[in-house]
Amino acid sequence: MPYFDHSATTPIHPAVLEKMNVVSASYYGNPSSIHSSGRKSKAIIEEARRNIAAAIDAESSEIIFTGSGSEANNMVLWSLRQADKKHVVSSAIEHPAVLTVLQKLEPLGITYSALPVNNHGRVKPQDLQDAIQPDTGLISIMMVNNEVGSIQPIKALIEIAKSAGIPFHSDTVQTLGKIPISVKDIEADMMSFSAHKFYGPKGVGFLYKRKNTKLKPLIIGGGQETSFRAGTENVPGIAGMGEAVRLVKENLIQRMNHLEKLESIFLDHIQKACPEVIINGCPKHHIPGVVSASFPGQRSDILLAKLDRRSMEVSSGSACGSGSVKPSAVLEAMAIPEDQNVSTLRFSFGRENTESEVIELAKVLGVITNG
Ligand SMILES: Cc1ncc(COP(=O)(O)O)c(C=O)c1O
Repeated sequence: MPYFDHSATTPIHPAVLEKMNVVSASYYGNPSSIHSSGRKSKAIIEEARRNIAAAIDAESSEIIFTGSGSEANNMVLWSLRQADKKHVVSSAIEHPAVLTVLQKLEPLGITYSALPVNNHGRVKPQDLQDAIQPDTGLISIMMVNNEVGSIQPIKALIEIAKSAGIPFHSDTVQTLGKIPISVKDIEADMMSFSAHKFYGPKGVGFLYKRKNTKLKPLIIGGGQETSFRAGTENVPGIAGMGEAVRLVKENLIQRMNHLEKLESIFLDHIQKACPEVIINGCPKHHIPGVVSASFPGQRSDILLAKLDRRSMEVSSGSACGSGSVKPSAVLEAMAIPEDQNVSTLRFSFGRENTESEVIELAKVLGVITNG
């Protein structure tokens, strides 16, 4: 079944599964135990930490394993309860794992400003400069948007944060495996990642935390993860994520080229099959392989169901309930009119998609939008 929803999640890579099977079967010791089985499990975790750190040019001590990308974001944001400065600058197009948390923190005295975006889904660095207040204690702006794939002017934003002496966190969940990521190049203080977005297992992620960046744990208990994240570690999950990151490092250029090619073939064919289609996002600054397309006069939930019936799986940014479609907040923030918003689908391609699959997808879209 052609699967075109890789921004939602990716199928596990066979080599990752193999690694996890071996680790699940043979490394049962609690990594905190000091006997041989425990030490073996600990060694597996530390091997993954080294691989992951090396892949993003970080130090091993700067990697904190978590249960998801959402948890990494939550850890950073809930940490503000104990901070002196309680204002956050974020953006209007963050994932709910940032925006909903910021809303929940408001009754606790933590305020936030959500920067607007332009119709390409990008923040203006000057808006960040203007939003900084004397009590701004954190800037949290995603690097790549999950619905439209736009890449933020991250270096310019970080430069502003550095000049103001404010820690910068980025939700980078949609980046790894799509574009090069080096913490030497992107000088964020904290970045959140999630394994299931790059052919790793679900339910495991990590936070990169630059040395000396202040952070409080979200989950307290044992002293795991240098006391930043209590709980017996998900040893097979962490090992699988380490392998998935190693594969990203090894194959990044090849994967990027493949996705770029699929995207360009799809765009070519979809514009011919559906001449009225509108492509959203930023043509210049976007990750390869993600296409947000609106089909004026159509409803995204109906299109999605028709594709699903033909065994083609895609996603819509808008949520549907009780027969109506709720517009996507991301597209709303990009000032996309409501009728266009509710007619939008997201196609996100992956390593196992082929040229003929994306050509067939465009052909089917032509049929179902004209019929
Ligand atoms: C930008 C972004 N942030 C955070 C998340 C949440 O990641 P996880 O599923 O690991 O909690 C997602 C997943 O959809 C995402 O796209």
